[in-house]
Amino acid sequence: MMKTGRVLFICKNDEISRYLREQLSFEGGYSVIFEESADSGLSAFHKNAVDIVIIKPDLLDAKSLGLIKEFKKIDQDCVVIACLDEVKPELLEYLFSLGIYDFIAKPINLERFFFLVKKGIELHDLMLAHRRFTQGLKENNTSLEKQNMLLAKRIEDSTRNLTRLYEDLRSTYMRTIKVLAQAIDARDHYTHSHSESVARYATLIASELGLCAKDIEAIRQASELHDLGKIGIEDSILMKPGALTSEEWAQIRKHPLIGAQILEPLTFLNDVIDLVRQHHEHYDGSGYPEGRKGSDIHLGARILHIADAYEAMCSARSYRKIPLTKDAAIEEIKKNSGTQFDPKAVEAFLKITDKL
Ligand SMILES: [Fe+2]
Ligand SMILES: [Fe+2]
Repeated sequence: MMKTGRVLFICKNDEISRYLREQLSFEGGYSVIFEESADSGLSAFHKNAVDIVIIKPDLLDAKSLGLIKEFKKIDQDCVVIACLDEVKPELLEYLFSLGIYDFIAKPINLERFFFLVKKGIELHDLMLAHRRFTQGLKENNTSLEKQNMLLAKRIEDSTRNLTRLYEDLRSTYMRTIKVLAQAIDARDHYTHSHSESVARYATLIASELGLCAKDIEAIRQASELHDLGKIGIEDSILMKPGALTSEEWAQIRKHPLIGAQILEPLTFLNDVIDLVRQHHEHYDGSGYPEGRKGSDIHLGARILHIADAYEAMCSARSYRKIPLTKDAAIEEIKKNSGTQFDPKAVEAFLKITDKL
């Protein structure tokens, strides 16, 4: 029966090699390529896909030994069997260091010879399969890496688009709320542009205190929105020319909480909401709505409170037609440092009064 397996037999054409080749071809059923020299052996190795190489003892000279190295260079999985006239331990050690699979020595045991050839071919098949599998894995990995890169790029693009959409949405919200806050200022012609001026003063104080850009921006936004809650206060109270009754005052005192409640669903304004809620708290705890004290009041709210009070004093109001002069308003802030206002924030305020 014809066996699958190609054997390259490199040896002199002597009796023993003829016998072995015949046995391989006729008894073993292998396909045998025969070459007599190292050079023609190498050329045959290049031209044919062989499973094993058998090198006969007579060719185990320097050139033939170099040939084993060449085979291994060309095909690292190449299986080489050496045929020896006699077993010399040193030579064997060297041959194994070159990478031969096994050897057979005189007197030749045919059964062992066939066993070695069969096992050598099986080993070569296994190594080829392993190499193909590894190569397949490598190609799959490369393809997966490419797909991953594509996927990462798509995710990056989608994230960028989402971020842009989120920013658009955020700025639309901000514009809407700002317009609302401006509309509230404009409800009463006395408070027209109030929030805008408060924002300017508050950011000047915050910068003077050395706050970071993010905190200054939160203070600016909070200043623009701080009286948003007045939307829930009746005009008759907001624009009342005379003194307010205690019930009316109770209504007015609700505006910081109403403002915070309106903004609460807008999570991107988290840094701003506390400032809106606390902008009427006094440093000594006598303010509203919660009666917070000292550092329990957000620093941004303490700053905002000074800017708000100063702006209100410098502007005409329904209950006070003639505003205070700049100096008188500054004096008032100074006078209430440590009670109504945070002394450190007042200190910073006093340093920026020429810019007001
Ligand atoms: Fe207010
Ligand atoms: Fe205000």
